[in-house]
Amino acid sequence: MEPPLTAKEAEVKAGIVPRHVAVIMDGNGRWAKSRGLPRLAGHREGAKSVRAVARAARRIGCEVLTLYAFSAQNWQRPEDEVNGLMGLLRQYLVRERDELIENDIRIEAVGDLDRLPSNVKGPLEALRRDTAKCGSLMLVLCLSYGGREEIAAMARRIALDVRDGSLDPDQIDEEALRARMWTGEFPEADLVIRTSGEIRISNFLLWSCAYSEWVFVPAHWPDFREDGFLDAVREYQGRERRFGRVGGLEAG
Ligand code: FPP
Repeated sequence: MEPPLTAKEAEVKAGIVPRHVAVIMDGNGRWAKSRGLPRLAGHREGAKSVRAVARAARRIGCEVLTLYAFSAQNWQRPEDEVNGLMGLLRQYLVRERDELIENDIRIEAVGDLDRLPSNVKGPLEALRRDTAKCGSLMLVLCLSYGGREEIAAMARRIALDVRDGSLDPDQIDEEALRARMWTGEFPEADLVIRTSGEIRISNFLLWSCAYSEWVFVPAHWPDFREDGFLDAVREYQGRERRFGRVGGLEAG
């Protein structure tokens, strides 16, 4: 049985809940280092925050939660760390299956997925298929993902469509680009959170974050958990979104 909402969850849920929250889960390595542990221990603890934040996002009524789990540039990390991260991903995709289905969470993935090892790709495809009808939250994993790589892939699709005659160059507009982005089928992120105190984009959602609200928090990802997530959504709820227009007071 699902426990009732906590007072904090209920308060956040009563406000304007972002449809789509995206997260740069940073600081696993520093979390581990500060405890004298190997970096992989930080990633393992980070996977617990993934579980907690997905659950919280669903409970307050977010529709989409996007997590930057492995960047296109992360392949350049030491082989041990890459293998450890792939192992953790595989473990998550296999072990969380029942819990995800029970919680009605659909799994999706974006990125250069062909680069993933087959022991990750297999469980990922199986979980995508098995959760395709789950509707309470869509959890999008960015894997082997980069914002520039996403734009380059979109440009290749545009070129192919022009070449085969299905797209007239005069009709190339924002909508034509959006429809060919890896993330094009999801609503744009309302809120992007980055943990660990770093203030930069790091090649995340370069196209679709154009009007996102950003919240930077000092906590490392393994310490973030549900409480950090609810605090970040609260901060979002205090912002005024203007999308390039004037604000409520000036608008007269
Ligand atoms: C960034 O921290 C984090 C990552 C590159 C990996 C994120 C992976 C997980 C949270 C675990 C597995 C994911 C899922 C979806 C189960 P960092 O290592 O760059 O931290 P640092 O900047 O302190 O070194």
